[in-house]
Amino acid sequence: MSPLARVAVDDGPAFAAWFECYDRAQRDASGSDEGWLAEEWRARAGDDTAPVHSRLYRLGPVGSPDGVAAAEYNDLDDTRLAVAELYVEGARRRRGLGTALLAGLIDEVRALGRDTLMVRALVVPGDEAASAALGFARARGLAHTSTSVRRVWDLDDPRRLADLEARGRDRARGYEVLVLDGPTPDALVAERARLAGLIAGDVPDAGAGVREEHWDPARVRDLERHVAAMGRRLVVALARDRASGRLVGFSEVTVSRTRPRTAYQWGTFVEPEHRGRGVATWMKAAAARGLVAASPATSRIVTENDARNAPVIAMNEALGLRVTAECLVFVAGL
Ligand SMILES: CC(C)(COP(=O)(O)OP(=O)(O)OC[C@H]1O[C@@H](n2cnc3c(N)ncnc32)[C@H](O)[C@@H]1OP(=O)(O)O)[C@@H](O)C(=O)NCCC(=O)NCCS
Repeated sequence: MSPLARVAVDDGPAFAAWFECYDRAQRDASGSDEGWLAEEWRARAGDDTAPVHSRLYRLGPVGSPDGVAAAEYNDLDDTRLAVAELYVEGARRRRGLGTALLAGLIDEVRALGRDTLMVRALVVPGDEAASAALGFARARGLAHTSTSVRRVWDLDDPRRLADLEARGRDRARGYEVLVLDGPTPDALVAERARLAGLIAGDVPDAGAGVREEHWDPARVRDLERHVAAMGRRLVVALARDRASGRLVGFSEVTVSRTRPRTAYQWGTFVEPEHRGRGVATWMKAAAARGLVAASPATSRIVTENDARNAPVIAMNEALGLRVTAECLVFVAGL
């Protein structure tokens, strides 16, 4: 069996073959044409010295890999962990290639001094791809630690968004919501960083242990540069408490400028003492409206939440979001 090989994003033919295999396998498993674009992978995996960076791998021939993988390494928040995806070409399954890919990945992660591997698999619940992922994980000692559910918000009715925003304004009178399409103003960046750092400790543990994220203004600027390098637009709604003047929450949506139909919800967070007052729904509606105003071709927002995160799911269901897929999360201690 050939060993795992690194794929460099500037190695034209090797990267093109990697992306083709990744994209095809991912579409087959998830039943959707959503997912990272080649230019986004170039930005994610192009700089190995970036504190949060990905590496790309292939198994088999350079021009026609049997399987591919990607792993993200985050030096800022958790230096024990690697978060990976792995795929084997549909017609080449059940020949031990997935096993070889996983073994190569484990060697690499260990060699990088990390001891925890998380594997994420996007699947349609109940589909063959879901049973393959679960069967493979069980056979290879990966524990199924959590499931994130993917929902889609259809933005086909602009009046509904305006209405939601108006209701939010009416209900959450002690707050104001600002929408940013572009870099955070200097005056707000420290507060934005503080809030970004609180979210990781406040969502259910996916299985690798809860780790606080370390955010400062420089990391917010890095994120903004990274989003631009990926060719994406990032719209952020910020909620401010009128009494104290402090920011108390944010909600981020992002969309590719080259494939703008489907946007993605990134973080949404409200500080605990400001919850239950409609601030999150207002921010989500305001961010969605801001996004559609800036990117009129965008017609839906995809969001993913841990299946145990009851408050967020209740909010999303009330907004009318529908389930389309789920992301199975597996963890192995190495
Ligand atoms: C999961 C995946 C990587 C497996 O690749 P593969 O090359 O078929 O895996 P292997 O041949 O090494 O299978 C090893 C063992 O896993 C189990 N397994 C693999 N596919 C399975 C399936 N469809 N149903 C049940 N068990 C399965 C079996 O025990 C198998 O051993 P066996 O063939 O001797 O019975 C592949 O189906 C795939 O790319 N799926 C989509 C992406 C994905 O789910 N990735 C994350 C997996 S955690």
